[in-house]
Amino acid sequence: MSQIENKKQVFKPNREFAKDARIKNMCEYQALQDAANEDYEGFWGGYAKEKLEWMEPFTDVMDNKNFPFVNWFVGGKLNVSVQCIDRHLSSRKNKAAIIFEGDRGDKKIITYLELYYNVNQFANLLKNEFGVKKGDRVIIYMPMIPEAAYAMLACARIGAIHSIVFGGFSAEALKDRIEDADAKVVITADGAFRKDKPYMLKPVVDEALSGNTPVEKVLVVERNGEDITWVAGRDYSYNELIKHQNTKCEPEVMESEDPLFLLYTSGSTGKPKGVQHNSAGYILWAQMTMEWVFDVKENDTYWCTADVGWITGHTYIVYGPLAMGATTVMFEGVPTYPDAGRPWKMVEEYKINQFYTAPTAIRVLHKMGENEPAKYDLSSLKVLGTVGEPIDPPAWKWYYEAVGSSKCAIVDTYWQTETGGHIVSPLPGATPIKPACATFPLPGIMAEILDEHGNRAEVGEKGFMCVTRPWPSMIRGVWGDKDRFVKSYFGDVKKDGLPVYFTGDGAMYDEDGYITITGRTDDVINVSGHRMGTAEVEAAIKKHPNVAEVAVVGKPHEIKGEGIFAYIVLKSDKGVADEVEEVKAINKVILKEIGAIALCDDMLFTPGLPKTRSGKIMRRILRSIAKGEEITQDISTLEDPSIVQIIANMLKK
Ligand code: WTA
Repeated sequence: MSQIENKKQVFKPNREFAKDARIKNMCEYQALQDAANEDYEGFWGGYAKEKLEWMEPFTDVMDNKNFPFVNWFVGGKLNVSVQCIDRHLSSRKNKAAIIFEGDRGDKKIITYLELYYNVNQFANLLKNEFGVKKGDRVIIYMPMIPEAAYAMLACARIGAIHSIVFGGFSAEALKDRIEDADAKVVITADGAFRKDKPYMLKPVVDEALSGNTPVEKVLVVERNGEDITWVAGRDYSYNELIKHQNTKCEPEVMESEDPLFLLYTSGSTGKPKGVQHNSAGYILWAQMTMEWVFDVKENDTYWCTADVGWITGHTYIVYGPLAMGATTVMFEGVPTYPDAGRPWKMVEEYKINQFYTAPTAIRVLHKMGENEPAKYDLSSLKVLGTVGEPIDPPAWKWYYEAVGSSKCAIVDTYWQTETGGHIVSPLPGATPIKPACATFPLPGIMAEILDEHGNRAEVGEKGFMCVTRPWPSMIRGVWGDKDRFVKSYFGDVKKDGLPVYFTGDGAMYDEDGYITITGRTDDVINVSGHRMGTAEVEAAIKKHPNVAEVAVVGKPHEIKGEGIFAYIVLKSDKGVADEVEEVKAINKVILKEIGAIALCDDMLFTPGLPKTRSGKIMRRILRSIAKGEEITQDISTLEDPSIVQIIANMLKK
């Protein structure tokens, strides 16, 4: 057994790497944390002045009067697209901003100057052809192609608020988000390529817009050239319109707290929340974490394999890398096609220096191509990152040894859609790392594990992962629902009687003060790193006319981290005639309501569910049954305790 399987083993940073790192050792890390502790506003104000290109300087660092509604860098004016593009033109105009590789291996390099022209033209198109104004909401439903990044930055340039919907979501899910955001424009593509075959997005948009819709215009990027339907007066070809646009569009002057984007994410109710991020605080932390956590240098090439539909794609494919003037790789395809050596082939070819992916991808690549990394020259790699779910020691070990040749730092970055950027993570030149451990809060982030009384959790005791002071890239609101914002994140946990930001995750300190994230404490599960509300899946399944009741829980899954397990009670007069057919029919409803990412791994048709006398479903028991664990909880308070054994027996069969 390798030593790495012993979780306690500590790996010191690579000496050579540390020499040139931005944060070189734990003393420097501690000095930054101390500086933030001693003068919190001075710390953040200093970085905001140094890092951001201001059109007008801010007058106050933080206005906390209406906590948890906090304003940062009050009075300042800027534009995020200027931070990401214009300010680089004097020194980096011919540097690659985006390196694109298509599914089929087609390649494209977009320099900062080209990015500037493309984004300006895109901005003019939205403004002049579609009448998009500051504050309007624009939905982006796109594949992983450079135009998705242009669309985001074009919105930022004219002050429109973009809301990206992941391309795997169904028409129904897209429609809900369009309506909640009250968007007037959708930017999409005919489709794209996956595993050498075209797939389609535009027909999904057509379906989402059938019936009443606030959407007036649809812009279609023609990527795969497949036949699509065009609705006259509503649908326009990007490829046509862009040709006629001026290459200069004055950036809108934005307040620090003008919204930059919404991103819908799952919570504990059936309805996703539109997480709002604003301009200055978000872009500042996106840039600072790129510099500190990935330590990208001027000539480096950085690749994050996420999709722009998730927060990781926002902060660490587009905004963070471009804000710091880095070269960011965008990949349309899947990591296992044509084989599980694809990412390593790309690392060799582009001489990638930082590689950032999800534990699910690492597990798949390990399983399908254990020996693939050895076939390629991966010597350019310096930092390897993981995100989105807890990583297990075997996957960590393979990543560290086979991919990183035991010389690269692994940054296990812990954060969420709501935090805008990393909050707990190793620093590659400073932090001695332990397998599968997010280690310490980043400088300036007052992250702490608290118990239910708001005291610091004891070593080895599970507690709640919290942040005790607001920070610049913190969520600013849930779109259209102030109460939900306050209730979801502030109030459950208090420190010294005052509410703190609660992430929804459990975590634990070890004897050295290292933080390990233990997973969600609410009804949110992490399927392949995709965040999924069990209530959302339940709401979808309930739409099937035969379903009386349903309870969805997460179950450990070898590859996906967690799989979806649904306990379903059918209406009494509809007994399960044909289970296979029933499963198929329910899957169809899930596909229609949410999309393939929410398909269940297991469905069990049960005669009832374990409920308290007040009718609350005891999910804890269902989670234990799904895992095949002995039931040790007290079940005497259940309305019908016998149901527990009945369900457990059904599963054993
Ligand atoms: C989980 C993704 C363990 C966590 C950036 C969090 C993690 C949720 C890690 C957010 C990590 C993220 N270790 N768990 N390094 N990173 N998570 O909003 O449960 O899609 O609350 O943001 O992913 O998912 P989201």
